[in-house]
Amino acid sequence: MTGFADARALSATIGTLRAAGCVFAEEEAALLLSAATSQDELASMVSRRVAGLPLEHILGWAEFCGLRIIVDTDVFVPRRRTEFLVHEAAAIAHVGEVVLDLCCGSGALGAALFAAVDGIELYAADIESAAVACARLNLAEAGGRVYEGDLFEPLPASLRGRVGILLANTPYVPTEAIELMPPEARLYEPRVTLDGGVDGLDVQRRVAGEALQWLAPGGHLLVEASESQASATARIFEASGMSARVASSEEYDATVVVGTRPL
Ligand SMILES: C[S@@+](CC[C@H](N)C(=O)[O-])C[C@H]1O[C@@H](n2cnc3c(N)ncnc32)[C@H](O)[C@@H]1O
Repeated sequence: MTGFADARALSATIGTLRAAGCVFAEEEAALLLSAATSQDELASMVSRRVAGLPLEHILGWAEFCGLRIIVDTDVFVPRRRTEFLVHEAAAIAHVGEVVLDLCCGSGALGAALFAAVDGIELYAADIESAAVACARLNLAEAGGRVYEGDLFEPLPASLRGRVGILLANTPYVPTEAIELMPPEARLYEPRVTLDGGVDGLDVQRRVAGEALQWLAPGGHLLVEASESQASATARIFEASGMSARVASSEEYDATVVVGTRPL
């Protein structure tokens, strides 16, 4: 450590974060100190964190599948549990696959799958302009094309019937459960990123309803769900003409439903 970022600054920052209830005060303090370029900037970062802003919005990035993903304020912070969805997708994706990251947020899922599977042709879309701007930055290296609009609506018609892997981490929190979420999410992530309607499955229903038009024969749709929602999501997929299976991970505390278009 050099300059203002000395051991005293580190322990003072840890103390402030701990007093504010940050569970990972040591790790967060180290990250804030390494990001701040002056004492004033550090003080401002710490006070925003104490006020409840997500750490990733303060740093401007989140770690996801070992990548540093740019995350602006007003953009959903990719969750570690969602790495499981990417692992499931990587296990079934082919080299050169056409991949669509729908409800892409920062584009974290597409970026991570691009890093895991050779030569994929990547498309992404989101309804929020802040997310689209962020995804364009994160997917530039992958050559990803990012569209703004409601679900499939902004996508080029030429993509119909060609998507091998459709990643869709849709909002899936039931409306009434949003008030039970930690303030970081409830107050600082736009409601459209969280709210899945009465049972949390409204957006998944819409995605599944159109998926067959976009998936290639044998193509897959992968969504994240809570453990209690997964069987309902699987039924929605089946009613939409796909076969469905549920995959769970204790390690990631995550559940993914995989739909497949018949050949
Ligand atoms: C739970 S966040 C997931 C973001 C990203 N896939 C991730 O896992 O980090 C859901 C995303 O869906 C987007 N979204 C919500 N409704 C949408 C819609 N009707 N059309 C397109 N995107 C939508 C939100 O803006 C948000 O970025």
